[in-house]
Amino acid sequence: MYLAQYPRRRYTEGHTPLEKLERLTAAVGGANIYIKRDDLLGLTGGGNKTRKLEFLVADALKQGADTLITCGGIQSNHCRLTLAAAVKEGLKCRLILSEITPGSYHTGAGGNVFLYHMLGVENIKVVPWGSDVMAEMEQAADKAKAEGRKPYIVPMGGSNALGALGYVACAEEIMQQAFFSGVPIDHIVIACGSAGTYSGLLFGLRGNNCHIPITGISVLNSKEVLQKRITEIIEKIADYLGVNVPIPQEAVSLFDEYLGEGYTVPTAGMIEAVKLAARTEGILLDPTYTGKAMAGLIDLTRKGYFKKSDNVLFLHTGGLPGLYANMPLFLEE
Ligand SMILES: Cc1ncc(COP(=O)(O)O)c(C=O)c1O
Repeated sequence: MYLAQYPRRRYTEGHTPLEKLERLTAAVGGANIYIKRDDLLGLTGGGNKTRKLEFLVADALKQGADTLITCGGIQSNHCRLTLAAAVKEGLKCRLILSEITPGSYHTGAGGNVFLYHMLGVENIKVVPWGSDVMAEMEQAADKAKAEGRKPYIVPMGGSNALGALGYVACAEEIMQQAFFSGVPIDHIVIACGSAGTYSGLLFGLRGNNCHIPITGISVLNSKEVLQKRITEIIEKIADYLGVNVPIPQEAVSLFDEYLGEGYTVPTAGMIEAVKLAARTEGILLDPTYTGKAMAGLIDLTRKGYFKKSDNVLFLHTGGLPGLYANMPLFLEE
């Protein structure tokens, strides 16, 4: 797909590394585990939102925006990176944060909350979990307009067709890296939240006639909700690019059993996975997204879902500040 024709800002120099995790592979005793280090993408602290923001912020600038408005949970990597992109572009940024546990937002909450303030967020509005965040963002945009600003709403998770283009591009990057390193990838495993990453990646692979299955580990919703959302985003990407890529429902492979009791709620498997990645490879995962996704990868390998000879690529989508906001979880032995 010829993505160079779409406006894009560049926040990362070159490709993120794709490497084998020899010691983690040995510790799990199964499939050959590889990692794609999207935690090393550009902007403050890296992570998957950087790729989406390259396209979204280019669009905001094209429209003459001076203020980015977006939303997320209290410890939102997406909000931190949208704010970081705003700082880099000389724009202002206002955030709507949904609070699951009342009182969990306070300036000493650490992790991403610390970074919102360090990066000079212009305004934060905390709303209860389950609020209509789209309506909240529209209200914030109206308020900004009344102040003479030109606001641009970045959707939740950056997961519209434009944001997902970042992962259409990533699919092409992975295919090239597999080709040049001579490592045929058999499976890709990723964390799935608002589903833009999964949808873009799947569209990018299939659009290049590459049928590597992607296993999505849900960290937010049931697999039925996710499946519906992925179908919608894929249709929107196809419309935006004007490309018809047939993607049957069976091409979408999702697991919601690693979510545990819900978004941000720790699981024993997540704690084991975060510690194992740190102690075998020195790689830091986060408790909300990549820790649960790695717990899924490890469990599915142990159960034989991935064969011992398979090359399984784990997409590290970032989230490191979330680890520092949850340190006590990992301290007791
Ligand atoms: C670290 C990390 N990994 C994975 C995801 C999930 O990506 P998506 O919302 O595109 O499914 C997010 C979303 O916020 C994230 O912050």
